[in-house]
Amino acid sequence: MDGKVYEVPSEWASRAFVDAAGYKRLYQASVADPAAFWAEHGRRIHWFTPYAKVKNTSFAPGAVSIRWYEDGTTNVAYNCIDRHLDTRAGQVAIIWEGDDPSEAKHITYQELHDEVCRLANVLRNRGVEKGDRVTIYMPMIPEAAYAMLACARLGAVHSVVFGGFSPDSLAGRIEDCGSKMIITADEGLRGGRKVPLKANVDAAIERLGGGGVEHVVVVRRTGAEVAMDPVRDVYYHDAREMVTAECPCEEMNAEDPLFILYTSGSTGKPKGVLHTTGGYLVYTAMTHQYVFDYHDGDIYWCTADVGWVTGHSYILYGPLANGATTLMFEGVPNYPTNSRFWEVIDKHKVNTFYTAPTAIRALMQAGEGPVKATSRASLRLLGSVGEPINPEAWEWYHRVVGDARCPIVDTWWQTETGGILITPLPGAIPQKPGSATLPFFGIKPEVVDAEGKVLDGAAEGNLVLADSWPGQMRTVYGDHQRFMDTYFSAYPNKYFTGDGCRRDADGYYWITGRVDDVINVSGHRMGTAEVESALVAHAKVSEAAVVGYPHDIKGQGIYAYVTLMADEQPSEELRKELAAWVRREIGPIAQPDLIQFAPSLPKTRSGKIMRRILRKIAEDEFGNLGDTSTLADPGVVSDLIDNRQNKQ
Ligand code: WT7
Repeated sequence: MDGKVYEVPSEWASRAFVDAAGYKRLYQASVADPAAFWAEHGRRIHWFTPYAKVKNTSFAPGAVSIRWYEDGTTNVAYNCIDRHLDTRAGQVAIIWEGDDPSEAKHITYQELHDEVCRLANVLRNRGVEKGDRVTIYMPMIPEAAYAMLACARLGAVHSVVFGGFSPDSLAGRIEDCGSKMIITADEGLRGGRKVPLKANVDAAIERLGGGGVEHVVVVRRTGAEVAMDPVRDVYYHDAREMVTAECPCEEMNAEDPLFILYTSGSTGKPKGVLHTTGGYLVYTAMTHQYVFDYHDGDIYWCTADVGWVTGHSYILYGPLANGATTLMFEGVPNYPTNSRFWEVIDKHKVNTFYTAPTAIRALMQAGEGPVKATSRASLRLLGSVGEPINPEAWEWYHRVVGDARCPIVDTWWQTETGGILITPLPGAIPQKPGSATLPFFGIKPEVVDAEGKVLDGAAEGNLVLADSWPGQMRTVYGDHQRFMDTYFSAYPNKYFTGDGCRRDADGYYWITGRVDDVINVSGHRMGTAEVESALVAHAKVSEAAVVGYPHDIKGQGIYAYVTLMADEQPSEELRKELAAWVRREIGPIAQPDLIQFAPSLPKTRSGKIMRRILRKIAEDEFGNLGDTSTLADPGVVSDLIDNRQNKQ
């Protein structure tokens, strides 16, 4: 069951920062005395005022509090840019590859400095101060990175909203954190298609009735005609002309907020995950260096979008804190052809490539041809993130993409964790396809049963973390109670990840997926409750229940059971209408793959929907429905089975 083992290639053991013995030694030290370990490693970033206190954390019920380096001061932009200028001013910081293969830019650390200062000055001139929230709704262009770093420079808190979210989703996020400033672009460009970002911003603000938004800065990407409010809106290229390329870095306390990133949970609206300054940067920089074994001169590419945490931690903050060259890609894997990723690797001589299983599975379906048409000789290391990678996809990634030469780091983590927690280190830890392997330094995973009993040795259960690490989220923005309820109430004194997992006899962790009402669609997290509330907002829908089901490419697909209002009739047309409705309400990633009209839903006598049964039907496991004796009306189930929607 534990499958094949891929040993660490000998050239890796000698090249890497950490070998097998080093991993054991450092891991032991990190959990034996976390304060001493992190005191030492905290010095990898520059502090204006060095810290004396290192760790002050408690997971105690009702009193969760997480502080790292709390008396130190620093600035994230200073660490990602200014600190490098003495030695790296002319080194490329960001390689930008456009959607169209003919477009690319190389941005040096000096240019990055100048651009970030300019954008920071534009924000400052419009009243943005330390602690203010700034919403960033951008395509994958260098200005997205400049905007994030400009906020960090001023001590403003950015909230990046993925460009695929709808005006409604955007409005909710602007409102929740009360941002008065929005940075966007006229349009985005992905796979040759345009995304109406500015029009979406206008619609979001309209929905909020103005909503306190005072300024919208618009970067010109496609040059499309967009509506501009003469008082509220300004084109960035105009504002940029009025400012200098110097802007001082605000001195920030280690625990001052750096960013908010909204993420879906099992209940309610998306939560504003809050990350702070010092610990986050130490943790992302350190994991970026060791997990990707980043050495000076390496070219590193993470294919994520900056709208997700992977883009925050491993396109921008971790790599730039390390003085790395990081590649930022505007496009998609299959445009103009299925060779695009591999062509970009050859074009920019990429050494480390970090992507999601869903992309690998999609490209796998296109066969080996588009890969083999390229050289990929520069590749040394491959990475995976976002969802469990099935062993078949792992093997293909290893053999076809990496020519059986490159280790794969399968990195498990979450928006909440800030950085990678369970992963192989390429020079130290043999890999097993499908396993995220072993914990990073300072991470104490435990497997617990439903009652919270800690299971030893080989075991299967829920994954919790027994102690804090510097990159951990600090709170849910504006709602510390929700933070404690969501993550610290299931198992007292532990952080509950929401994931199930198995630990094998070698101590390797195998993440089995979410055990809560969250589904993972193409590596993106979606709360079933959110999709349900979008569906019931439709006038013809009376009730809805949403579950995940196995999908060959997306990992999980979205399966919606819908009960219509009494006088409505099911139809193919209505099915399409509802799918489009959810897409419009939340965004394309939330669009149900399958919709089943159900005259009624299986409920307990107290009226609770029995999702377990709906999940089994969606997964095609009719024979294994479990106990149905508590159903108010057992007849409901056979109708559901008879009308099961066909897969994909
Ligand atoms: C959830 C977190 C981490 C950044 C991208 C997603 C799943 C993530 C793996 C992996 C198995 C994984 C988990 C986790 N997940 N990486 N390597 N193996 N599962 O961040 O949107 O916060 O989602 O993604 O279920 O809880 P996110």
